Amino acid sequence: MKKILVTGGAGFIGSAVVRQFINDTDHSVVNVDKLTYAGNLQSLVSVSDDPRYRFEQVDICDAAEVARVFREHQPDAVMHLAAESHVDRSISGPADFITTNIFGTYTLLEASRAYWSGLDAARKAAFRFHHISTDEVYGSLGDSGFFTEETAYEPNSPYSASKASSDHLVRAWHHTYGLPVVTTNCSNNYGPYHFPEKLIPLVILNAVSGKPLPIYGKGDNIRDWLYVDDHARALRLVLERGQLGETYNIGGWNEKTNLEVVQSICAILDELHPQSAPHNKLITYVADRPGHDKRYAIDANKIARDLGWKPQENFESGLRKTVEWYLQNTEWVRGVTSGEYQNWVQKQYGVPSAEC
Ligand code: NAD
Ligand code: DAU
Repeated sequence: MKKILVTGGAGFIGSAVVRQFINDTDHSVVNVDKLTYAGNLQSLVSVSDDPRYRFEQVDICDAAEVARVFREHQPDAVMHLAAESHVDRSISGPADFITTNIFGTYTLLEASRAYWSGLDAARKAAFRFHHISTDEVYGSLGDSGFFTEETAYEPNSPYSASKASSDHLVRAWHHTYGLPVVTTNCSNNYGPYHFPEKLIPLVILNAVSGKPLPIYGKGDNIRDWLYVDDHARALRLVLERGQLGETYNIGGWNEKTNLEVVQSICAILDELHPQSAPHNKLITYVADRPGHDKRYAIDANKIARDLGWKPQENFESGLRKTVEWYLQNTEWVRGVTSGEYQNWVQKQYGVPSAEC
């Protein structure tokens, strides 16, 4: 049994990782999360009473608090997911992205290095720092080709530039100080507990309430979609078996244009929620995202070949499950969209969730 310190465990992907650790392994988890607008403890109610789960409301930029967490919990590994994650927000306000994604990663690396240096030889050798990153660091593809682990970095948005910076810091802490790191770069995730500012949950919820479905530009930008639980399984595998200093690309081999994604959601809703069909009448073309990357596509051969990972979900089954989840989990949706969540955190923990 190991103790894993997960940063950003109240977010979309982090909460899937935490639920898997508690439900499917004997490991314990310390969830370090600031609870920004994107952090939601209601995504963890199914595991939060488990004695192997602990929560620390901590900002990763707060060096003293991060050091305290290491001292008190003595983790065997770190999985670093905490980040500002939304590209559109990074365009309208990049400051939080620079602070959390770059300075926060630096702070966490330094705390990890200090803690790791003081471990005994066996624990020091077994320690891992797993940095979770994105395919957006590679920039944008044309009509053909894939991102491999050797693709040069060409980040285009403030978000992807901040993530690229964090990847470089992690690489340098390995090269210079010998910190035992692994890095993963993943494509677009989708699934339950996704904050409804991102394309798929936004479109599901807007369609159900008869609101416009905004499509940027012509809807012909391409993303490579991966079901979030498949990503979480890949992350656990890389933590356990990844080679130190290596990078692994993770993707679903599921390229779709944004219009195809939105049409598929509309078709599923026509069947499951016929009272407001046809949903595709709500499709509305809006101004394009500035600097909008045209196409992402991950070559996931390395993680398949070296670690034996492959996704379990295909896009059709995963999307249907996701739509069903949003239709069934109206309380969770109401919580994240109504502000009621802020009151719940205040009552539960005596501290408010961080400002948007
Ligand atoms: P998310 O926005 O849903 O969650 C981020 C979490 O980090 C939230 O719980 C938030 O409260 C927390 N957080 C933010 N700033 C913090 C700080 N200063 N200190 C402590 N906690 C803080 O993000 P996500 O979609 O779950 O993404 C998780 C990670 O995976 C990110 O690093 C992101 O770059 C990466 N990633 C995401 C995707 C995707 O499609 N969502 C794909 C590839 C990689
Ligand atoms: O590729 C991995 C990245 O995927 C992650 O690193 C990011 O954290 C994650 O947010 C995601 O970034 P995207 O910008 O690709 O995701 P988003 O859901 O914001 O947008 C998906 C596509 O849909 C993109 O081409 C923009 C478009 N879009 C988005 C929204 C919110 C629309 O057309 N309309 C919308 O309303």
